[in-house]
Amino acid sequence: MRVTVSRKAHFNAAHRLYRKDWSMEKNDSVFGKCNNPNFHGHNYELIVSVTGEIDAETGYVIDVKILSDLIKEHIENSFDHKNLNVDVPDFTDLNPTAENIVVVIWNKLRPFIKKAMELEVVLYETPRNFVTYKGD
Ligand code: NI
Repeated sequence: MRVTVSRKAHFNAAHRLYRKDWSMEKNDSVFGKCNNPNFHGHNYELIVSVTGEIDAETGYVIDVKILSDLIKEHIENSFDHKNLNVDVPDFTDLNPTAENIVVVIWNKLRPFIKKAMELEVVLYETPRNFVTYKGD
């Protein structure tokens, strides 16, 4: 029996969407208000899901405390109350769109999840806008 275990988390962070190699006009036309040079913030919500077989001894797929600690150590501690463009090296040369952020988060967590298990990350940038990544 394969079951999916999910943990919700959140972090607050600032970002600016732009390309250094584009003019201000071009960045404005593509990214609009998200290109504000003084940055803007979001309350990001995260749902991290692990799918796998139930362990016969423990009855767990994954101990949700372990999943919670992984998210805290590798995501919240790096992203919460940070400026993603300035403070998080992953975004030095990567536009911190929701799409790119969800892939960065997945890549940070994947090494800590057993190979036989699937990992899915859903990232809400606003209550209505969210992205999903399950690996390629
Ligand atoms: Ni934004």
